[in-house]
Parts: sequence; structure tokens; C-alpha cells
Amino acid sequence: MTNSGIRTISITSGKGGVGKTTVTVNLAHNLAKMGKRVLILDGDLSLANVDLFFKKVPEYTLQDFFSTEVDLKDILVKYSKNIHILPGASGALDLARLDVFQKKMLVDSVSEFEGHYDYLLIDTASGISDEVLYLSSAAQEVMVVVLPDPASITDAYALMKLLNQRYKTKSFSIVTNQVLNEKEGLSLFHRINSVSTKFLNVSLNYMGYIPFDLNLRHANHKQEMIADFAPQSQANLCLKRIAEKVEGFPTRTEVPGGLQFFWNQVLDIA
Ligand SMILES: Nc1ncnc2c1ncn2[C@@H]1O[C@H](COP(=O)(O)OP(=O)(O)O)[C@@H](O)[C@H]1O
Ligand SMILES: [Mg+2]
Repeated sequence: MTNSGIRTISITSGKGGVGKTTVTVNLAHNLAKMGKRVLILDGDLSLANVDLFFKKVPEYTLQDFFSTEVDLKDILVKYSKNIHILPGASGALDLARLDVFQKKMLVDSVSEFEGHYDYLLIDTASGISDEVLYLSSAAQEVMVVVLPDPASITDAYALMKLLNQRYKTKSFSIVTNQVLNEKEGLSLFHRINSVSTKFLNVSLNYMGYIPFDLNLRHANHKQEMIADFAPQSQANLCLKRIAEKVEGFPTRTEVPGGLQFFWNQVLDIA
């Protein structure tokens, strides 16, 4: 497989509690069902959360890789044949403070996974920290989850503005979450799209909406996938549609794919 074989997508929002982890986990689940091999990076480096959704407690985290030299492949949590999770470090792992040797160690180890996956999904932390910016700017695609609420719109806009101005990110995918219906989702997209294209040099692609659906919350609480918990629910159907759209969507070409490229970018910038 070539370096561009793996697609790297960062799932982000600028604000917490909007559904980033929900989108990440369900996107992974649906892509895996289509036969895609997915690696999830739990980019919430201070507060691991992907594993909670999968009912898996990681034995090691990225922190152990640096402090005790546990092999990267032994840190991976294998949720299923097609879904593997790379847990972030719980506690402070400051990428910016890794030394040259540690950075090289990480990039070299990661490149051993090259060709093993079709997708790298990065579930970023909440807020607009440097970490979120590094991880998103190194990804080929940045998927922004936004709610029909002014604070969420403002935060999403601020995040896109920073990525555009600092890292020249030009295109973003938008997922509207917790909306009433398709119509509200689309009008929320249009609202963000008109402001962004007016004031920023970016283009936005609408990847779809997810309605507010208590099934999702219940599934999350029971640590079950919505696809198993409530397969006929609107939320599940919409999440499935988003995964199909992602899979059918052409990859951004201005940023190369590949795990090695991704980590090189992250660590170069950090
Ligand atoms: N469309 C939705 N309908 C109902 N509840 C949702 C929806 N999306 C997310 N939630 C709930 O909102 C909470 C926050 O979601 P989460 O994915 O953890 O957000 P984030 O990762 O952005 O902090 C969770 O309890 C989740 O179940
Ligand atoms: Mg989360």
C-alpha cells in the first residue's frame, strides 16, 4: 500500500459535549462493517474517552510507550478485527516536550502500522488547545461537529478560523448533531457555511445530520453501539449515512495521507 493508502480524519468541534466521540466511534463501527480497517487515536490526551464507549479499559497508554518503552503494538486496544484503538495518555503527555529521540521512536513505531489500516480517525479533545490544532492540521480531513446552539457555532467557527490562518487548512467537513430533523440540520449547515465562506478562505462540505435521539444517549450509557442497541433508530440510520458519505467522498489532496506523514507533521509542528 502506498503512503496515501490510509485516510486520516480528525473529528473536532471546539467545544465539549457536542458528540465528537459519538461520531468517531459510530463512524468507525460503520466503516468497519463495510470491511474497512480503522485505527482510532484517542486524542483526548488528558481524559481518555473512546475506550469508555467501547467498554474496553486500555492496559497501556501512549505515556507507557515513552516512560516504560512498551511496544506501540502492545498499547493498541483491539476492539474487533477491524477496529483498533490507540489510547491517548491519561495525564499530561505534552507532544511539544518530546525530545528528538522520542519523536523519532514514535514515528518509526507508527510506520510499522502503515498498510494495516484504511482509516485513522482522531477523536480530538474539547477546546481549542495546541494539541487539537496539531492533530487536526496534520490530518487530511477535518470533520467539525456542530450543534444548533450559538456557542457551538461560535466555537466551530473559531476553530476553523485558527486552522485556516495558522495551518492553511482550506476545507472542512461539517456534521450537524442533535438537530430536530434534516431541515434543521441543513439550515444549520447553511448558516455556518455562509459566515465561513464570507469571512474565511475555506470551503465546507456537508456530511449530514444526526437528530437528537435518546437512543444514542442510552446506547452510550450501556456502552453499546447504537447499531446494536437501536438499529432502526433515526440516529443510527443517519450515522450510517454519514459513514457511507465519508467512504464515497474524495480525499483531500492538498495533504498527503499515511500514518508516517501524519505523525511527522504532528511532531514537527509540536
Ligand atoms: N444526537 C444525539 N442525541 C442525543 N444524545 C447525544 C447525541 N449526540 C451525543 N449525545 C450525547 O451527548 C453526550 C456527549 O457526547 P460525546 O460524544 O461524549 O461528546 P464529545 O466527545 O464531543 O464531548 C453523550 O452523553 C452522548 O450520548
Ligand atoms: Mg469525547
